[in-house]
Amino acid sequence: MSEEFYNGFAEYYHYHQASVSRDDIRFYTELCRSNGGPVLEVGCGTGRTLIPCAKAGAEVVGLDLSEDMLSFCRKTTGVENDDIRRRINLVKADMTNFDLKQKFQLITTPFRPFQHLATIEEQLACLSTIRKHLAPGGTFVLDIFDPDLDVLTDTDRELEFGEEPPFTLSDGREVTVTYRNPSVDPVMQVVHCEMIFSVNHSDGKMERLVQEFIMRYTFRWEAEHLLHRAGFRVRSVLGGYNGEPVGSGELIFIAERI
Ligand SMILES: C[S@@+](CC[C@H](N)C(=O)[O-])C[C@H]1O[C@@H](n2cnc3c(N)ncnc32)[C@H](O)[C@@H]1O
Repeated sequence: MSEEFYNGFAEYYHYHQASVSRDDIRFYTELCRSNGGPVLEVGCGTGRTLIPCAKAGAEVVGLDLSEDMLSFCRKTTGVENDDIRRRINLVKADMTNFDLKQKFQLITTPFRPFQHLATIEEQLACLSTIRKHLAPGGTFVLDIFDPDLDVLTDTDRELEFGEEPPFTLSDGREVTVTYRNPSVDPVMQVVHCEMIFSVNHSDGKMERLVQEFIMRYTFRWEAEHLLHRAGFRVRSVLGGYNGEPVGSGELIFIAERI
């Protein structure tokens, strides 16, 4: 998997429906308020949750591997006032191996960056690096999807699904998003995914851009074992950002250092 598989897609990613309508902002801003700072957001992307957390008063470090995502985040942060901008620090690094020489009261992983790690070795390297950065008594939030067996066992690999409502960018490009999962490896628990952007330019030119990436799916109890093995105690598990029970689509683990 290319290290920077989000490069070239930041703008599309930031404005597409699944990003814009995701209902996790209040969950993360409340966590910042209740835990205090500083906060580390691992895989911060374009700042979708990072910027609201800084606006809520948190000192936040956003870490991401993609220069394109980080520079979009810098641009978006640029319109905020000095106080908010001062609270945001962006770092380009790999979540499996970084050293920020700082401990955090809260470490989060909004919208599933952890699932881009393909192997258990990478997952453990990431969790152990995160643990080193977590202050005693601090909170770690692991945010992944709850694997849906219907989707994983669907054998129509050509099918494009999940068409989102079109959105228009400031230069007039109209973009429609669909998805395809060309293959699923049930042994490695890895889904090869495509996010397909059909772009209609204002001069009439049509373009089809395909972002390829992988998502490793992890079941609830596997994730609990993994967290325990990496030195975390799971305080609670949620199935959604409004306190839904497990089985509601998401898996959100609230953990602390053992
Ligand atoms: C689905 S996006 C989530 C972005 C943001 N957290 C949000 O909620 O919108 C996943 C992000 O993880 C980043 N990422 C993927 N692999 C990474 C790695 N090994 N280290 C750091 N960031 C990584 C990608 O560049 C991307 O910005």
